[in-house]
Amino acid sequence: MKDKALSYRRLFARFATGVAIVLTDEGGEVQGLTVNSLTSASLDPLLLLFCVSRSSRTGDAILRTGRFTVNILNADQENAARHFASRKDTQATFEYGREAGFVWLAHSNAVFHCHLEKSYPGGDHRIIIGSVENMSGPDECKHLLVYHEGHYANLQSKAISNRDEARTS
Ligand SMILES: Cc1cc2nc3c(=O)[nH]c(=O)nc-3n(C[C@H](O)[C@H](O)[C@H](O)COP(=O)(O)O)c2cc1C
Repeated sequence: MKDKALSYRRLFARFATGVAIVLTDEGGEVQGLTVNSLTSASLDPLLLLFCVSRSSRTGDAILRTGRFTVNILNADQENAARHFASRKDTQATFEYGREAGFVWLAHSNAVFHCHLEKSYPGGDHRIIIGSVENMSGPDECKHLLVYHEGHYANLQSKAISNRDEARTS
């Protein structure tokens, strides 16, 4: 990798993110990858986006199936994040939900069922836009899995100032 690309990667890693797994069901086989490029893109209509490497097998599978789920992980799901960020040649079993051609990861903090709306070229990645058909999640958000400077961390969501409280009083 060139010096500039290395610096870019090192500095961008200072941007802390949540962690999600994107899953698609292709002929009964689960394909998935871990992502942190996820963004909510539009409320009307409901759209989300993430960037996927052109070399990703899951990215190719999504272009073929035209549907996927985005699963936002809690801190207890770090092993799933590690598995789906790997070549997946080790055996691992996770609890999946399945319905209407979608597959999702049970116990996630949030699950979005999406149809592929559009795919745009973005350098060595593809920008995938999903239209959100359905969503679910537990009433209470569990501790978050976050990613920062190449490390996973557990975040208990907690305000760092009382500004929000002040706004509502
Ligand atoms: C925290 C984390 C976030 C990642 N985010 C992305 C991402 O947004 N887009 C991407 O293409 N790869 C991302 N990756 C790398 C993929 O998860 C990894 O290359 C995976 O093995 C691809 O699997 P596939 O080829 O089976 O689809 C991320 C890895 C980690 C550990």
